[in-house]
Amino acid sequence: MLTDIIPRPQAQPILEEGMFHCSGELTLERRDFEDWGFRAFAERLKKKNIILVEGSGEPVLRVLRDGTFDEEEYGLEVRSGGVTLRAASARGVVQGLTSLYESFEKKNIPCFILRDKPLYRHRGLSLDCTRHFFDAAEVERILEEMSLVKLNVLHWHLSDDQGWRIESRVHPKLNRISGPFYSQDEIRHIVAFAKERGIEVIPEIDLPGHTTGILAAYPELSCQGEPVELGKGGGIYPVILCAGKKQVYEFLFPLLDEAAGLFDSPIFHLGGDEVPKREWEKCPHCKAAAEKNGLANLDDLQGWFTTRLAERLAAKGKIVRCWNDILKAKTLPENLDIQYWVDWSQSGAMNAFLDKGREAVFSDMFTLYLDYPESLIPLEKVYRYEPALEGRSLAGVLGVLGMEACIWTERIAAAERLEKALFPRLFALAEAAWSGGGDYAGFERRLVGKLAGLAERGVAFTTLEESNPQGDERLAGIKQWFIQGAQGAAPEEDKMPDPEQLTRIRTMFAQGFNLPRGLFSGQ
Ligand code: ACM
Ligand code: ZN
Repeated sequence: MLTDIIPRPQAQPILEEGMFHCSGELTLERRDFEDWGFRAFAERLKKKNIILVEGSGEPVLRVLRDGTFDEEEYGLEVRSGGVTLRAASARGVVQGLTSLYESFEKKNIPCFILRDKPLYRHRGLSLDCTRHFFDAAEVERILEEMSLVKLNVLHWHLSDDQGWRIESRVHPKLNRISGPFYSQDEIRHIVAFAKERGIEVIPEIDLPGHTTGILAAYPELSCQGEPVELGKGGGIYPVILCAGKKQVYEFLFPLLDEAAGLFDSPIFHLGGDEVPKREWEKCPHCKAAAEKNGLANLDDLQGWFTTRLAERLAAKGKIVRCWNDILKAKTLPENLDIQYWVDWSQSGAMNAFLDKGREAVFSDMFTLYLDYPESLIPLEKVYRYEPALEGRSLAGVLGVLGMEACIWTERIAAAERLEKALFPRLFALAEAAWSGGGDYAGFERRLVGKLAGLAERGVAFTTLEESNPQGDERLAGIKQWFIQGAQGAAPEEDKMPDPEQLTRIRTMFAQGFNLPRGLFSGQ
């Protein structure tokens, strides 16, 4: 039933008497909408032994274009005689068909009238397929679940210290040295599969830090040019791409051109997070580039580096997105938007960015990083998220595109573990982003049917009982997480923050996760 779906519609439906019944065939009458908007729905219906056929006859699904609707908005009138769906675009059609599909009770839909649209334009998941590799079939399984809850962006983290995941014909050594990867055909297939489900795929190539995956194959691109091994544990690796060597740009430009051509999203994510600059500090090439371009410091060198890449991507029609770390630079690309994850003492930088009329997506790490266990980020906390800075809500603020959960996979190797971390917390995000949450009790009630659906499709999930641990149970979960983390961390001195920074990080974690007092010594 419509009243059981996640995300809850933003608008109130009118529930009517009667039932729309469908078995065998459903006739599709559509005007000028593109084929791709109907494909996922038709595939799902097949599993219910219903075939979508074009022509005339009953029962009928009539799809009408209405230019007054917003991009993803849809109208549904489900009556016993047939269904009418209105939308302005195929993306609206996809969302309407998803609501229709989720409202089926076996072969019936209780009648209703609804006009619905999302609160936020950007409702995403960032999926790290680099720390651990998940094959194309697993990515598509996750896309299908995202689509059923109307999430509309997969931000695909395809490069990092632990690997390089895109088939590259311009730099094939990346694929020989840096672990498993997606072929270009697989990537195109995933992009098309996602599009049919209303999802845009934004690739991320993280630069200039988190690049051991590149440097393991092409070590000459670092400042010192020494060999490095592919990363194994998590952490921040100290050797990064040199910003001063000409050959770095000669390497990156064709690589970015190649990658950009595989995706149809107008956005290209260049990462830019956690860039340790100790190598740059010592490097004559970096120093020369900074001097020649009148750059005040190494943060500005990162801004200049990113601007050069952004200009290249602009020629391919792409707008660049970076993590908010880049806001330390005064030399930002003109066409840039931001993904916020944490305020590394950049207080004010995000506010100033939004004040200038620029756009940002919100992924607060203490609420939306789903690799953290439920003891740190319970289901209800995700559900209640709204974009905020320093405790101030940004709901309704211009330039706030929406929200995105992230899953980093340093500690997640198996698909089952990945799914358990994602579900059902990703559903909570979907509802928060579509209709602004506001009905947690109802969400838990509606979740029962959703979890049964996951079980039917063989997708793993965390049970509702395990989703909001409290008291001793929570404490045990937290301790286990930090102990395992300490054991799993690479022991290199170079990766450890200095004591002052460590204290700052601990305080931030204690506040962000609302940790019990005394968990860390000295807290
Ligand atoms: C990040 O978590 N380093 C974006
Ligand atoms: Zn350098």
